[in-house]
Amino acid sequence: RPLLLIDTDPGVDDALAILMAHAHADVIALSVAAGNVGLDHTVRNARKLVELLDVDTPVFAGCPSPLVRAPDEDAAFVHGADGFGDVGFPEPAPRAQAEHAALALLRISRERQGEITLVALGPLTNLALAVRLDPTLPQRIKRLVIMGGAVTGHGNTGKIPAEFNIGFDPEAAHVVFEAFPMFELVDWEATVRHAFPDDVYQAWSAQGDERARFFHAIFGTAREFNAKHERAGFIAADALAMAVAVDPSIVTRAETRHVAIELDGRLTRGATVVDWHGRLGGTPNARIVLDVDHARFGELIAAALGVPAA
Ligand code: BDR
Ligand code: CA
Repeated sequence: RPLLLIDTDPGVDDALAILMAHAHADVIALSVAAGNVGLDHTVRNARKLVELLDVDTPVFAGCPSPLVRAPDEDAAFVHGADGFGDVGFPEPAPRAQAEHAALALLRISRERQGEITLVALGPLTNLALAVRLDPTLPQRIKRLVIMGGAVTGHGNTGKIPAEFNIGFDPEAAHVVFEAFPMFELVDWEATVRHAFPDDVYQAWSAQGDERARFFHAIFGTAREFNAKHERAGFIAADALAMAVAVDPSIVTRAETRHVAIELDGRLTRGATVVDWHGRLGGTPNARIVLDVDHARFGELIAAALGVPAA
């Protein structure tokens, strides 16, 4: 089983990804970023997941804001003001660790040199800080899988070409994309291509165990948002990145290219700029996942929600 360190901003689809990780891999830690909602909520939500799963995965709180500029927007209008659908859960019992997420990431990368698959499901602030503190970090990481970007400009933020995780902290994404010689990129557009029909989601929800019931409860506000905005079916960005992390053989189509981040731009700050035609001369740094085995993706989700195998 892969050994995962998950950097995350839970977040409804982060929650599903974290359920998948615990079902299909060994999870060494959750390091938490601000993003979908503020850090106080994302840390609390990570603790809530540890409680639900009854595991002892440590939770490390990271940066409360982007590296340079205040974000234009968060995603509370999708995920709920508390990031978990405003269900009103009681305070979870598991505590966060005292160590900062970026320092924990560096320490664990030394303790488990060459073993860790780092899965980034939120803005890349913690990873950028870690790599600035210690530029040798990438050498100790086995794989880096990033949910982020919109590789042909069909983003999901107010800055239309930008995807949320990159658009929230473009400078952090720039630092990470320059520092890691090769990473796997699961972008928003792949996510949209790999949505599931609503009846498939409803069947999982009805047949699953307490994990499915929990997910259904927190998914309410996001589900309403998707329905209102004609986002067809069940879209789970972070779950797709997690599927690639836990089962690399799921990828059926990928392209390796140089990818950079637009830091300025009147309309394009936060865009992921892919050198599709090799004109800019950069060394390829990203394996862009374009398609996966959709049935297998569904199986990984269903198993993580406790749906009995067919
Ligand atoms: C990404 O943005 C967040 O809202 C989701 O959790 C996901 O990580 C999708 O663009
Ligand atoms: Ca996320």
